[in-house]
Amino acid sequence: MAEFSLPKNSKITGKSREHKAAADAGRVKKFKVYRYDPDTGENPRYDKFEIDLDECGPMVLDALIKMKSEQDPSLTFRRSCREGICGSCAMNIDGRNGLACTTAIEDIKGEVRITPLPHMDVIKDLVPDFTHFYAQYSSIKPWLQTVTPAPSGKERLQSPEDRAKLDGLYECILCACCSTSCPSYWWNSDKFLGPAILLQAYRWLADSRDEMTGERLDELEDPFRLYRCHTIMNCANVCPKGLNPAKAIAEVKKLELERTL
Ligand code: SF4
Ligand code: SF4
Ligand code: FES
Repeated sequence: MAEFSLPKNSKITGKSREHKAAADAGRVKKFKVYRYDPDTGENPRYDKFEIDLDECGPMVLDALIKMKSEQDPSLTFRRSCREGICGSCAMNIDGRNGLACTTAIEDIKGEVRITPLPHMDVIKDLVPDFTHFYAQYSSIKPWLQTVTPAPSGKERLQSPEDRAKLDGLYECILCACCSTSCPSYWWNSDKFLGPAILLQAYRWLADSRDEMTGERLDELEDPFRLYRCHTIMNCANVCPKGLNPAKAIAEVKKLELERTL
């Protein structure tokens, strides 16, 4: 259950460091970035960075890369694809979870505050610990499970209509923006699977080729794993891929109900 006393070293009391733009910078944008390095034993802090937008790409990730390469090489964050595909640059940008590589700097008024995804342990700076999230993903067996052998030498086919049922599900990049914006997940992430993993669970329930529907529903039927979703809808609001995990969760609940009728 929820713990309401924060560990001492979680308070943002560290002394801020400032990184100014060059004196002749054209369009200066200010950023306030969460910094935490457990190896130092110091509390977290916000560092301030000034970036010349005339010398920077348009996205928040471009600004972070510029800070790291020109102002402070110790700044730590994840990124890979730079085009909203890998999910690794998920963070909280001005109070909203999103992908740094697809969030335009110009869309944020005033100083840009960047923190790690909320309610996850922080490994360093903007890098959260995904160990528990991935263990939960593994728990739903995210692969095709069958009992009947595939037709000799052939793939398992599905009709275009059945394939279309996976639209809005297969696009999930497991960035965790949804789960870490879900209040139920904040307080019960030890047991509640959260919107990202439940959307993935439905992705396999909705797959016409999968033959473990009953077993999958048995695993999910639990007051915490599934039913801690209270349809608050934060998940659908923040998903950078425009998906609706709350709807997928409702579909799982419907399947659970239908098999009792
Ligand atoms: S709809 Fe459910 S999963 Fe989505 S944010 Fe709300 S409680 Fe969390
Ligand atoms: S549903 Fe959206 S927000 Fe959630 S993990 Fe998948 S892509 Fe990210
Ligand atoms: S770097 Fe891959 S999603 Fe942003």
